[in-house]
Amino acid sequence: MTICVTGGAGFIGSNFVLDWLARSDEPVLNVDRLTYAGNLENLKEVDSDPRHVFAKGDIGDFDLLSDLFSRYMPRAIIHLAAESHVDRSIHGPADFIHTNIVGTFRLLEAARAYWAGLAEPEKIAFRFLHVSTDEVYGSLETGDPAFREDNRYEPNSPYSASKAASDHLVRAYHHTYGLPVLTTNCSNNYGPFHFPEKLIPLCIHNALSGRTLPIYGDGQQVRDWLYVKDHCSAIRRVLEAGILGETYNVGGWNEKANLSVVHALCTVLDELKPRADGQSYAAQITFVEDRPGHDRRYAIDATKLERELGWKPVETFDTGIRKTVQWYLDNQAWVNNVTTGTYQRWVGKQYGN
Ligand code: NAD
Ligand code: TYD
Repeated sequence: MTICVTGGAGFIGSNFVLDWLARSDEPVLNVDRLTYAGNLENLKEVDSDPRHVFAKGDIGDFDLLSDLFSRYMPRAIIHLAAESHVDRSIHGPADFIHTNIVGTFRLLEAARAYWAGLAEPEKIAFRFLHVSTDEVYGSLETGDPAFREDNRYEPNSPYSASKAASDHLVRAYHHTYGLPVLTTNCSNNYGPFHFPEKLIPLCIHNALSGRTLPIYGDGQQVRDWLYVKDHCSAIRRVLEAGILGETYNVGGWNEKANLSVVHALCTVLDELKPRADGQSYAAQITFVEDRPGHDRRYAIDATKLERELGWKPVETFDTGIRKTVQWYLDNQAWVNNVTTGTYQRWVGKQYGN
């Protein structure tokens, strides 16, 4: 048996592939276009592992996907490939429409054709697991209850709108064609291999290279943070035991304001790699122009996943952020490799930075 992972060279995808192969002998067919966010260096641990088959390609390429599916016969597709950065979606939404909406549509079409041709036992066992975000639910105010699976969709950014569209397509393929789908909607992840354009890895990288730590607006926007390995365990659990057609919220019960997240990582850095001048890295914090349409608060109620499928996160924010900072300190070569070329041009465009 084999599973197919899309976007397996990205942040969550590479963590998922590495965790999967550490726990199971089941091979992984990894389909990834290797955009700026995809990096085979993330997977060098499984470079010569015959259980990891890498195919460079676009999820929008129906013929390529059909060929790969008929050759490798996956029992499940874990769909992670996406354009994932909100700021990029504000500057240029086109890639988000191409990959997150049209790409997911073509992938669904290829999956449906493949699934329809399977013999009975394989057809019943097949799963299409769509990995999505809590951002589809929109923004909460202080005191509002956390997002539940039955919250209505109110996406506010081109990124979240494109993910919402993909969630709806996945849902429709279940209701219309009976494709055996599962959807997860997860909060903000952090951990190893996180591209240094998102808040946590950007601030660790900027802190160590003597740059400012840019806080959008007043820094009081709230996100729920989940260590990436806990997201991977949730995906595995939903794949194993999720009810077809259901959606599952995934979160860490770790609501934090952005400013306190950045202070927390500065405190760990101060301890593990103190600045030469003895000052705290927090001195590099700089308030900059706010992100347009910035969602104020996300919060996840993960009760359904915990109660029905018995999933629980292992890391607290304190243990997860310490591991993350340590990982970046130990992997400066990786950071240097991914922060050359186009990366520099992008950072220069960020609000007020
Ligand atoms: P990422 O940007 O780090 O990685 C995305 C991967 O998809 C990259 O390897 C990239 O090369 C690949 N990709 C992009 N377009 C492609 C295409 N057209 N065809 C094939 N491959 C393509 O993203 P991530 O943070 O790892 O997120 C993975 C998934 O999880 C996404 O669907 C995202 O919406 C979802 N998600 C992310 C978070 C988070 O905090 N990062 C939270 C919840 C859900
Ligand atoms: P980000 O990591 O981009 O994830 P998302 O937008 O998907 O939640 O941003 C997390 C929060 O941090 C978000 O409220 C925006 C804020 N932020 C900053 O304040 N400064 C930054 O440089 C970045 C990248 C994000």
